[in-house]
Amino acid sequence: MADIRRYRQGDRADIREICIRTGRSGEDATGWLDDDDLLPEIYALPYVDLEPETAFVVDVDGRARGYILGVPDTRSFVERLRAQWLPGFAAKHPLTGEDTPTQRFVREGRDPERLLIPELDEYPAHLHIDLLPELQGQGLGRRLVRALLAELRSRGVPGVWLEYGPDNQNAAGFYRRLGFAPLPSGTSGTRVGLHTDARV
Ligand SMILES: CC(C)(COP(=O)(O)OP(=O)(O)OC[C@H]1O[C@@H](n2cnc3c(N)ncnc32)[C@H](O)[C@@H]1OP(=O)(O)O)[C@@H](O)C(=O)NCCC(=O)NCCS
Repeated sequence: MADIRRYRQGDRADIREICIRTGRSGEDATGWLDDDDLLPEIYALPYVDLEPETAFVVDVDGRARGYILGVPDTRSFVERLRAQWLPGFAAKHPLTGEDTPTQRFVREGRDPERLLIPELDEYPAHLHIDLLPELQGQGLGRRLVRALLAELRSRGVPGVWLEYGPDNQNAAGFYRRLGFAPLPSGTSGTRVGLHTDARV
């Protein structure tokens, strides 16, 4: 039985695994980059470490098998990311100047200010969502979005945005179906936003 519940610290290793197993445009990224830790250290672990109260998981027999990781205030998150997360990340993932997939993610991870999009007043929050393959297509993604929207509404946050990879057509279909709309600043149309009072 799959249930939605809040994140707890004991889920951290599962969060890392889910991020890697879905990190290559929705497919398994194991072994893709020079260091499997890179994707979770950009897109998942700083979220659960710095914003554990706005993270929800799909629990199957006590294990997290999917997640939605939310940040209610992207501006303050960027400040904390730079101060508290970046020093360790930068030491572990040096820049080499090469044009490789690994180095493109290293550059992204070292640039928290990329999250300061022009639409932040309307959409102050942002999110990441991933489910292991066996849990996809059962309405759990929708339920995770609902859980996060309710939490954000209760905190008075008006909107949430996210960005997905241009090769991730499943994500595109899912977000469109839930009512996320493209944001003007997203050049390839893969940056979308949703108001927290939306019915999903
Ligand atoms: C994308 C993802 C979060 C969606 O979650 P999900 O649980 O599979 O989606 P749901 O079953 O909740 O679907 C909700 C609605 O979206 C629709 N939908 C889902 N995937 C879709 C797709 N590829 N195209 C069109 N519609 C889609 C569903 O049909 C459903 O609509 P309905 O209730 O009217 O039938 C999940 O599939 C996933 O984790 N994929 C791999 C990782 C990933 O790509 N994450 C996003 C990175 S940005």
